[in-house]
Amino acid sequence: MTQQVKAVVARVKGAPVEVVTINVPDPGPGEAVVKVLSCGVCHTDLHYREGGINDEFPFLLGHEASGVVEAVGADVTSVAVGDFVVLNWRAVCGECRACRRGDLQYCFNTHNAKQRMTLAEGPDAGTELSPALGIGAFAEKTLVAAGQCTKVDASARPAAVGLLGCGVMAGIGAAINTGGITRGRSIAVIGCGGVGVAAIAGAALAGASPVIAVDIDAKKLAKAREMGATHTVDSSQCDPVAEIKRICGEVYEGAEGADVVVEAVGRPETWKQAFYARDLAGTVVLVGVPTPDMKVPDLPLIDVFGRGGALKSSWYGDCLPSRDFPMLVDLYQQGRLDLDAFVTEEIGIDDIEAAFAKMHHGDVLRSVVIL
Ligand SMILES: NC(=O)c1ccc[n+]([C@@H]2O[C@H](COP(=O)([O-])OP(=O)(O)OC[C@H]3O[C@@H](n4cnc5c(N)ncnc54)[C@H](O)[C@@H]3O)[C@@H](O)[C@H]2O)c1
Ligand SMILES: [Zn+2]
Ligand SMILES: [Zn+2]
Repeated sequence: MTQQVKAVVARVKGAPVEVVTINVPDPGPGEAVVKVLSCGVCHTDLHYREGGINDEFPFLLGHEASGVVEAVGADVTSVAVGDFVVLNWRAVCGECRACRRGDLQYCFNTHNAKQRMTLAEGPDAGTELSPALGIGAFAEKTLVAAGQCTKVDASARPAAVGLLGCGVMAGIGAAINTGGITRGRSIAVIGCGGVGVAAIAGAALAGASPVIAVDIDAKKLAKAREMGATHTVDSSQCDPVAEIKRICGEVYEGAEGADVVVEAVGRPETWKQAFYARDLAGTVVLVGVPTPDMKVPDLPLIDVFGRGGALKSSWYGDCLPSRDFPMLVDLYQQGRLDLDAFVTEEIGIDDIEAAFAKMHHGDVLRSVVIL
């Protein structure tokens, strides 16, 4: 039986979001209905609202969520009713070329629910909703593919572990999975928002040293230090490339930069800083998302060749939710990964526009909606 629940929808490009009633169908084959407990407000939700992702309005926003499985489709065995889960936006298919060759994190055919949730009221009642990243969790309940539900320790704080569903996983994974950072290796992270700070926390967890935080905002640098940065560089005041090289050379004799540089802004100039701040044979990890018009100007090909190493990009931290979410929740429960530090405030379902406004002030890592 279809249920009606409260949810946050972006109906029209650029207009403020609205709290409305939506229809959530019973789960069909391969699907699950999840009672949402928490959902972080991510920059990507704002991008959807502004029409920056695509034009498939109306959107059901929210995608960094935890919840409890309320119902599953007849054939679902991977999760059961009552499981506490973190939702993921890359439920792998197991059948595409990437999956068959064992690179599940690159799956090109990830699953979402097949049925659609719809608007329940107003002149456009019945209109199908586009859930953000196939999730749509600014809602009391949401319909997802069962593979989007990753069971984790039920005693963990929902608002904290739900953040593994997007930005925190993207950052930690950029450092650990994509960058391969470990003890005895140096790292610099350019851009210390939620994603960059998570990369710093991940690098600290892996035992990297030095862990160099770079940003143009002093408040972000202070937070980065709390989360494990050993050095901070205010790139509005100095040349960050020279400074990263200097710090790494002080720690490791002969080092000419960092072993791994994570770019967590998504701009050509910061990517270029990352490129030149690496040590020889070092790795650049692009986790910031550029816009289609951006280009890297004046990069001599001989510099690409002559410096060796690897130029990588990182989607969702190259994570496998089934492997990484329970492991990171365990480290959180042990007190080794401070996910609580990412939760700046807990807010209500009516406060999402205010949370969008706060994103630009630099004081908030994450506002988390409690449902
Ligand atoms: N690859 C993925 O899977 C994935 C997932 C989530 C988010 N992202 C992307 O990661 C990026 C960061 O996301 P976020 O939520 O941390 O954003 P954010 O806005 O919270 O943080 C961006 C940070 O970059 C800093 N910054 C801006 N210009 C800078 C410059 N020139 N030099 C140094 N620092 C600068 C800002 O002060 C801010 O601290 C975005 O592009 C986002 O779209 C990628
Ligand atoms: Zn696949
Ligand atoms: Zn996100």
